[in-house]
Amino acid sequence: MSVIVSCARGHNASTTLMVDGKIVFYLEEERITRRKYDGGPLMGLLKVFDYVDHIDHLVVCHTHKSGPELDWTGESVYEGIIRKMLRTTGGTFDHPLKPVKPKPYEYHECSNIHHQMHATCAFMNSGFDTAACLVVDGAGSFLQTDISKHETCFEFESIFKVSHPSKIEPVYKHIGTSYPLGVKSLRGLLVDEEKPEDVDEACDTILTEYPGITKCYESATRYAGFKTIDAGKLMGLSPYGQPNPDLPPFFRDGWGNRDVFIPDYPNGSYMNTQRYKIFMDDEEEMRRTGQFDEGWGFIGENYTQTQKDVAYQIQRESEQEMIKLIRKAHEMTGEKNICISGGFGLNCVANYKYWEEFPDLNIYCEPISHDGGTSIGGAYHVLNQLQPSRNLGERKSIYYGPQYDPQTYTQYFEEDFLEVTDTSYDDIAKLIRSGEIVTIFQGRSEGGPRALGNRSILFDPTIKDGKDIVNRVKKREFFRPFACSMKKEKVHDWFDLKGREASPHMMYAVECKPGVEEKIPSVIHVDGTCRIQTLGEDDNEHYYKLIDAFEKLSGVPILFNTSFNLGGDPLVETIEDAINTLLKSKIEYMYLPELQKLVKVPNDAE
Ligand SMILES: [Fe+2]
Repeated sequence: MSVIVSCARGHNASTTLMVDGKIVFYLEEERITRRKYDGGPLMGLLKVFDYVDHIDHLVVCHTHKSGPELDWTGESVYEGIIRKMLRTTGGTFDHPLKPVKPKPYEYHECSNIHHQMHATCAFMNSGFDTAACLVVDGAGSFLQTDISKHETCFEFESIFKVSHPSKIEPVYKHIGTSYPLGVKSLRGLLVDEEKPEDVDEACDTILTEYPGITKCYESATRYAGFKTIDAGKLMGLSPYGQPNPDLPPFFRDGWGNRDVFIPDYPNGSYMNTQRYKIFMDDEEEMRRTGQFDEGWGFIGENYTQTQKDVAYQIQRESEQEMIKLIRKAHEMTGEKNICISGGFGLNCVANYKYWEEFPDLNIYCEPISHDGGTSIGGAYHVLNQLQPSRNLGERKSIYYGPQYDPQTYTQYFEEDFLEVTDTSYDDIAKLIRSGEIVTIFQGRSEGGPRALGNRSILFDPTIKDGKDIVNRVKKREFFRPFACSMKKEKVHDWFDLKGREASPHMMYAVECKPGVEEKIPSVIHVDGTCRIQTLGEDDNEHYYKLIDAFEKLSGVPILFNTSFNLGGDPLVETIEDAINTLLKSKIEYMYLPELQKLVKVPNDAE
């Protein structure tokens, strides 16, 4: 039995356990610790030893090498945790006259190939034999170059040409730095943080002071008062804006406009509001209405038209920049198969535009595009070194969380605050049809940020003001749209997939067909789109049967689906998290399909 344990360290920390080439679990740290975007994998590493008693390979993925060390032994904290769990000496700090015992596993540091890990994750799950992998994120690996005078540089956008078995070649990189140097070609000059290493001569590497697509998007996100990591919220706000000729261009000559954006590497970015009258006037308006904090910026709920227009413009311009990069990826590699990953890969509005723009390309958007996915990439990276990679086919399931025994849920059924009854698909469909919010909890949790029917909040999509009702209950911003899940075979009656057949992981916000908005108003966004999950019975039997029962009642093969959590919380992982969420919200119902039980938590929480 070959055991690979791979962890991703930064925000969206995660752990992947791979045994004999198969992913046993992938778990984001926030799911266990209950702190959104939590960094530093620990609980995931401990979970590994519920499944295995030894490991053969430890892989640590990050954007840079510096990190916590254990006191006294000086080991990296991750090796230290593994040593303690394995109860070995780990080969460190033994007496010089005694032979050092070898570590019982091989250690792999993947901290300077962050984009390669994103690309590997996407490619191995895509089912393609060969592909161009485009990675777009805020600030990938931390690098240094001769000409940036030792200012740290950051990977913004990369293109790799990838094929089986185990071949991955960088062909383009946009690297950014704060050092004012214009645009420089870097062939052969790029070095890694600690050990100098020439960049592949074949890779067209550009070093600029101009920020990448994601960094610009982060700046606009902050301008609307969100954390930079909450770019998805700005995407939801963007259809409320419109073209505004008073705004400066956000990109020039293919690079982020440095006059507008002030990157704060690695994890921040701001708009240069003092340079433009439109922003100064807007901030004055925010101050006048008591929505401005001098340290943070916007702190209100009544978004100004300028903020909405910024959201609109950054979304539109980013899409166009991405389209240029996809074209570049296709032209540089000759590939018709394109994998997209890195944080910007989660922009489901843009992802749909690629379908429209490139009808002849096969585009795969990786659902675990954020940094958590790099632990999957790290596991495959090592597996591919051990044995030449082969095409594993398109990912069958993204329900990657640990398996729980549903019988253990019954231990809570005697609690005074719960009412438990037998139920059926038809009963639950009726309950949803009666206007109740019903959560569903089953099986293994979803990997990545999207709830796909195992940890979901469900609602009737035909209810006109459903979006407002659920946003209030979930304690989210009023403008946040909702997704839906639907029977795969009916999708073309309701949505325009631009010639594609499915959207199994909610990676595309697709246009609805004429007349659909009136039928399912609570899941159609103001721009006439919806982020959809298409599923067949083989994908998720219980969920499919529930949607089928709902269709028999309503004629609508669709359920309103949002993640089972409250605003700002991670997706629930355990049954205890689920019950706690019901206890602290107005949501009363939880459906446990594996037991065919309905749990009610009567409450009057606000
Ligand atoms: Fe990343």
